[in-house]
Parts: sequence; structure tokens; C-alpha cells
Amino acid sequence: MTAFSRFTPLVSALPSTVPFVGPEAIERQRGLVAKARIGANENGFGPAPSVLEVMREQAGDIWKYSDPENYELKQALAAHLGTSSANIAIGGGVDELLGQIVRLVIDPGAPVVTSFGGYPTFNFHVAGFGGRLVTVPYAGDREDLGGLLEAVKRENAQLVYLANPDNPMGSWWDADSVISFARALPETTLLVLDEAYSETGPADALPSIASLIDLPNVIRTRTFSKAYGLAGARVGYAISTPGTALAFDKIRNHFGMNRLATAAALAAVKDQAYLREVVANIHAARDRIAAIAKANGLAPLPSATNFVAIDAGRDGTYAKAIVDGLMQHGVFIRMPGVAPLNRCIRVSVGPAADMDLFESALPQVLKAIG
Ligand SMILES: Cc1ncc(COP(=O)(O)O)c(C=O)c1O
Repeated sequence: MTAFSRFTPLVSALPSTVPFVGPEAIERQRGLVAKARIGANENGFGPAPSVLEVMREQAGDIWKYSDPENYELKQALAAHLGTSSANIAIGGGVDELLGQIVRLVIDPGAPVVTSFGGYPTFNFHVAGFGGRLVTVPYAGDREDLGGLLEAVKRENAQLVYLANPDNPMGSWWDADSVISFARALPETTLLVLDEAYSETGPADALPSIASLIDLPNVIRTRTFSKAYGLAGARVGYAISTPGTALAFDKIRNHFGMNRLATAAALAAVKDQAYLREVVANIHAARDRIAAIAKANGLAPLPSATNFVAIDAGRDGTYAKAIVDGLMQHGVFIRMPGVAPLNRCIRVSVGPAADMDLFESALPQVLKAIG
């Protein structure tokens, strides 16, 4: 294929990979329909009726750009979190914020520490800005805090990524361990503490806002994509010191937020009663996934997220056969990308109809692949 001849050397050298192949792409490639969409850690319970109502009401305003300062959403988040709006930056989902953070910190060749098999979109951004990934294996299916700290010091890394709770295993560290890890880092190392699943874990897995807010080298990222059920809206936020938060203004796309999406997020923060309801549904669906796994002789891992990693007991080839086999039945799930995590499949929560499809397809697939 002929391409423009003067892309930057960095871009020219990048492989054409994507962090995730979307379910739509899989449907097109395989000529199948995903009847149960339980692979991308979305939230099939959907957003609150109050959120949909606001989106409908405000649809006619879509000719206007969104407020570039995201004033109202920041105010609402600040009130919700018990912090100041100066501590908050808004972006198009955590994924966009991760790209901005990498851009703020990384020169080509700079070492960046993360877990081997951890959230791949972060790695994608590091590659895109020319960073050098240094990976630390999971220990006992959890990100290894001691190993990450050791790698940061050894490499004098400017940036380290930790998801708590974690994707793809659903594991988590308690708040005290995360706080100790953050405080043990050199001041010259920025911690991205990705809390995309902050609403779905046990309370003691989430450091209080106050416990880390004084550290200029910590940015916590959160999203409306998971518990709030707004993945397609693309709204996320970062929490840090005011000085660190201001850095986003130097590089972000100031008119980049979708006006309806921002209005939806604002309405979602205001409807905490619905959030509690959905979180209860997520917990129940998690239990159901675990029960289905056990009934089929597989071993569900404990989860603090909106999905369950299930140890299928063999290798990545076997897990992939389950993933592919389920898709053949219209059940879209995913699996971790590298060994030894890829002995697992990963099933996102969903409404009862999705769980029913998973329950009926799984034994058929296991029987078929033997
Ligand atoms: C750890 C983690 N971070 C970020 C994201 C993406 O969040 P967003 O939709 O806000 O970009 C995900 C989604 O699966 C995730 O698992």
C-alpha cells in the first residue's frame, strides 16, 4: 500500500496494531451477530432513565459547542468527590486521558513501567509517543506492587501505570497498599492510578481522595463508561493536584468534549440512587457468572470490577477456543492477552438475558472443544 513518505520516523516504525478488536469488527469478519455483548466490560444495564431524559431534552442544542471549561461537570464531580474543581481534568474517556498523560511526560526512549498483560490501551499510547515499555509480571494474578516499584527505581522511570481494580484479571489491592505504593515512588515518577472500576469494588479497595490529593506525581483516572453505563458517550476524568491538572490544558482539545455526552455525565453524577441500583445489579451478575463457571468445572477469580476472569484450567489456545466457540453462539467475550493470564476467559456482566445465553452456550462449547 502506498503511503505518504514523510510520516515521522516514530510513526513510520509503529506496527498497525489496535489495542482491542471491537465486537462490530468481529461480527463483520465472522459474519456473526453478538446477541450477548459481554466482552468489552461495558454495562448492559445502561444509564439512568434520568440521564436518557436529559440527553433527549438537550439533543436540539447539539449545534452548540460544549463549554470548553467543562465547568458544570467539574463542579458536580468536585462536590461528589469532596474536592475542588481545580483538582479535576475532563477528557474523552480514560483512554483519551491516558494518551494525554503519556504525551505530557514521555520523550522518545523514556522508560515507562506497567504490568505484563495489563491494560493494553496504555501501552498503545506509550508506543505512540515513543516510550520504552518495561513490564513486570503479575504475581498471583494481581499486579505486583513491589515489582513495579523496583522496576521504577531500577529504570528511573518517569511514568508508571497501575489499574486498581485491575483489567483483565479483576483483582485489586486494598487502599493502604495503594497509598504506600504511591508514597514510596520517587517524586520524579508520575503514577497513573487507573480507577476505571472505582465504583464496583469493595469500599476498602479505594483510597480516599484526601489520601493522595497532596501528591503532584499522582493522577487518578475514572470514567463514566463502566458503572454509569455511558461507554459510548466517552467521558472520563482525572483527579490530581491543581498544578498537575492544569497541565492538561496545555495539550487537550478544548472543544473536544461532546455536548450531549457531557450533559449525560452531569446527569449521571446527580443520580447516585440509580448508580447504587446498578452496582447491586453488577454484583449479582458477577455472582451469576461465577456460578455458571463453577457449574461447568471452571474456576472464577474474585472480581472487584464489572467482569469476571475465569480460569479455564489449560493454556491460551484452549481459552481462545472457548472465546471463539462462544462467539459462534452469539456470545461475545474476551480473554487476557498474554501467558499465564491467558489461561483465563473474561466475561463482562450483563442483564439476565445475556447471562442466560452465556449459561446455555458455555457447556455446549466446552463439550464441542473437548
Ligand atoms: C483499566 C481500564 N482503564 C480504562 C478503560 C477505558 O475507559 P474509557 O471508556 O473511559 O476510555 C477500561 C475499559 O475497559 C479499563 O478496563
